[in-house]
Amino acid sequence: MNHFVYKNGEFFCEEMAVADIARAVGTPFYLYSRATLSHHFQTFDSAFNGIDHLTCFAVKACSNLSILHLFAGLGGGADIVSGGELYRAITAGVNPQRIIYSGVGKTEAELRFGLESGILLFNVESAQELERLQRVAATMGVRAPVSFRVNPDVDPQTHAYISTGLAKNKFGVPIAEAFDLYIQARGMENIAIKGVSCHIGSQLTLISPFIESLRKVKDFVARLADAGIGIEYIDLGGGLGITYDDEQPPHPREYAEAIKAELEGTRATLILEPGRVLVGNAAILVTEVQYTKNNRGVDQEKKFVVVDAAMNDLARPSLYGAFHAIVPVREQGGAPEMVDIVGPICETGDFLAKDRALPPVQQGDLLAVLSAGAYGFSMSSNYNSRPRVAEVLVDGSHYTLIRRRETVEELVNGELLPKFAESGHGH
Ligand code: LLP
Repeated sequence: MNHFVYKNGEFFCEEMAVADIARAVGTPFYLYSRATLSHHFQTFDSAFNGIDHLTCFAVKACSNLSILHLFAGLGGGADIVSGGELYRAITAGVNPQRIIYSGVGKTEAELRFGLESGILLFNVESAQELERLQRVAATMGVRAPVSFRVNPDVDPQTHAYISTGLAKNKFGVPIAEAFDLYIQARGMENIAIKGVSCHIGSQLTLISPFIESLRKVKDFVARLADAGIGIEYIDLGGGLGITYDDEQPPHPREYAEAIKAELEGTRATLILEPGRVLVGNAAILVTEVQYTKNNRGVDQEKKFVVVDAAMNDLARPSLYGAFHAIVPVREQGGAPEMVDIVGPICETGDFLAKDRALPPVQQGDLLAVLSAGAYGFSMSSNYNSRPRVAEVLVDGSHYTLIRRRETVEELVNGELLPKFAESGHGH
């Protein structure tokens, strides 16, 4: 459920006409609905009521401070994967005791930053990372709280680029080798074993892969218990899918019920790392039509709608061939035409939609790219020296700019001309 609807032919976000915001802030921009974000967080989190649990929002899905602050205010934690995300989470007011740190490549500086911040858990992904963490914690005279991310070798049945829990993926430690790591960690002075974690992929539309991996993790936890190693946290990762087109993912309540049933009799606190399901359908990307054109070939004609948003603003269609519904902000009459909706970037791969039925549109019309809240702005770049777009949050009949549009001056900020350029000599 979300709060983006047509009212009398005008597309609205909650009580605000999208066109009015576009007039005020310019295009393109990401537009988030606060009611949708809160609703999604509460629906997800409350579905796990009845068991000890902690919902750690996967910051990578949408890392704007205002969004992180909103979830923190609702009792959420954060799942981070870099020092930059840790900085964001802390700046947004997330309690460090609700922050968990995932990722295969944590640097020494990042480990130190995590320890200094007093985060809840490090999800360690290799033997070398464990050794490095021990060393850093020892120099600081602290104990590092650790969970190992095990790789349960379960097929999430999703896009190959976002499958993470198969043996052939780079993530985690094979469950068969993880046992020895726990034994090793137990002997380390500056390591405190806290949990077992896994994450098998993203945009899952079935419950069974989650349950299959939870079973493997439970068996593993039982094996650790037999060896005298107690576990406080079981982290199941994120990955619950959403509807972009005709997918029918389970409702968070069904997902939670299945997990709770499987966890019956387990004492550990459950940690979840949802990203997409909390934010995906809580935002749109608003863009303006710049040009329409027909390119005629020998035996076919192709219609293009050139808009002011591009693959640098929303990478998912180009990168994964992902589908995002696109609708006119003012409902249009007329028979739909098959068009490609493309951006201004100099690459054939720059498109938001291909062979899409769209009512006839013209220069100046606004389009809304739906379900753009997850991995939308957070994956945007400056390619083609395009400033990153504005982000706006609607709350009822108000809106707030939560990130102003980047300027061209900011684009070159930090770049330095070599000394020789000043003297005008080549060398
Ligand atoms: N935890 C870990 C360790 C992860 O790697 C991820 C996502 C999540 C949680 C959150 O997963 P979610 O609930 O959002 O599915 N850019 C891709 C998705 C990449 C997902 C990476 N890991 C996309 O746009 O589809």
